[in-house]
Order: sequence, then structure tokens, then C-alpha cells
Amino acid sequence: MFFCDPTELSTEKLVEALQARQVSCIVPFVNWPHEQCLEWLRTLPAALGLHLESLEAEPFDGQTLVEALDSTRELKDTFGLQTMHQRLAFEQLVKEKVQETDISLQQGTTGAVFSASFLRAAKPLYDLHMGTENMGPLLYSLIRFVKPRKVLEIGAGYTSVYMAQALADNHAEICKFKRLTAAGQCQCGDVPWGVDGEVRKPHVGVLTCVDNMSHEYATACDLPTVANHLGIGRHLKLEVADAWQYLEDLAELEYFDSMWIDVGA
Ligand SMILES: C[S@@+](CC[C@H](N)C(=O)[O-])C[C@H]1O[C@@H](n2cnc3c(N)ncnc32)[C@H](O)[C@@H]1O
Repeated sequence: MFFCDPTELSTEKLVEALQARQVSCIVPFVNWPHEQCLEWLRTLPAALGLHLESLEAEPFDGQTLVEALDSTRELKDTFGLQTMHQRLAFEQLVKEKVQETDISLQQGTTGAVFSASFLRAAKPLYDLHMGTENMGPLLYSLIRFVKPRKVLEIGAGYTSVYMAQALADNHAEICKFKRLTAAGQCQCGDVPWGVDGEVRKPHVGVLTCVDNMSHEYATACDLPTVANHLGIGRHLKLEVADAWQYLEDLAELEYFDSMWIDVGA
């Protein structure tokens, strides 16, 4: 059970609480709300015999769905899976779904982009005309190394999710250091391993992407969907605008720690 003042509840707090309980990976599937669960259940084969009507009335989420796998009664009564065969098939489908989506919030420092499932999720943003297939991993590595807070990208698409994922992984990493520091386990001899202020208050890096969608093959319009699927939406802000106009219209001078400008049309 996780107790916290509701006025202070934030995703960051929740992530920390989960991490403190040794949860190493937060699965987007588990965070699905009722509607998204239903949408997916409707895609499953009719032969399973799922009772979708009864599920429509009773709100449940991805977590409930996963937990139900531990309970035969739940699978029989709530989901209507009467035979052993149906229950096993259903369990298998949920497990596959969890595996398929377990990428985005890989906690730790290894780098979520080096997984087949990240590449699969990012694929719809790739277009041969952009020539950025090798830039994505390079930009990811640079952001992981430099650890900027505010990043600007002009000309968005495939590279954007690599950069936003780097910001998400940086944040996960610094939260981990914070935990280790609190436990006195983040020392290099007598010297603290990590910049004190950073470790005390981990920042949430944000990538601002500006694109006017003028390129015939622009994929930036699909960015929000892919970023949300990857669970990195809060690290990415898409501005559909002409870049030069956007920069001119900024209310006040804005500083960025890193910039990637790719406006070839
Ligand atoms: C080479 S593509 C970007 C590729 C992207 N980095 C990727 O990896 O997929 C160039 C992008 O710049 C956008 N663009 C061109 N001129 C622009 C301008 N003046 N303001 C904003 N975006 C512009 C196009 O719509 C196009 O999506």
C-alpha cells in the first residue's frame, strides 16, 4: 500500500514508490484505463468466449486484468472463461501483450532504445526520405551522455522519440541515484557519486519539437500517439508551426541546453 498526501501525488512520486518496492519495470499495459482494456479485449478471438458485455459496465484497468490471471474464479466469473483451454489461452495472450509493451519505462541505465520492442514502436515514424535511421541512436547516446534539461528539435519525426526516450531514461537514472544516495550507497570512496543538487531534485527533461508538416512524408503528426504508447509523453512537446515564426513569437527569450536542427525538406 502506498500512502501519500493527495495534493502531492505526482507520477514521479508514484514511480519512486514503485521503485522502492523493487519494481524494476513499469509496464504501460498495466497502466491501461478501462476503455483501452476493452478495446484490446474486443480484438481477441471470439472462440475464447469472453463476456465483454459484463465488463463494459464494471470499470477495470490493466492492473486488474493482469491480477485476474492469478484467480481462476475471476477468470470464470468476471471474464466468463469457462474451460481450462480458454483460461490458458487468455493467460497466454495477456502475457504476450505485456511482453510486447514492456519497453518504454525500462528503469535502469542500459537504454530502452536498444530493445526490439522500442524499434517496433518507433517504426511508424521512420521514413526513408529523412535519412535519419542512424541519427536516432546517436542523438539518444548524446542526450544520455550530456544530460540536458531542455532540448529543441526543429524538424521532427523518427529522431524525436529517441531523444524523448533518452530524457526519460536520464530521469529514471537520476531517481535511482537519489534512492541509492539516501541509502548511503552512492559514494566513490569519500566522494559522493553524482551532482548533489541534481540528485536531490531530479529534473524532468523536455524535448520541444517544432515542425510545420510541410514535408510530403512528414511523420511528426504521429509523434503524440507513439510517444504515449512508449510512456514518454511527458518528455515531449510538439509544436506544429513554422520554426522561424515559432522562435520569433516566443514571449521571452528561451534557452535550450541542446538543439538538433533538421529542416531539410
Ligand atoms: C528531414 S525531415 C525531419 C526528419 C526527422 N528529424 C526524422 O528523423 O524523421 C524535415 C522536417 O522539417 C519540417 N520542416 C521543413 N521546413 C520547416 C519549417 N520552416 N518549420 C518547421 N518545420 C519545417 C518538415 O515538415 C519535415 O518534417
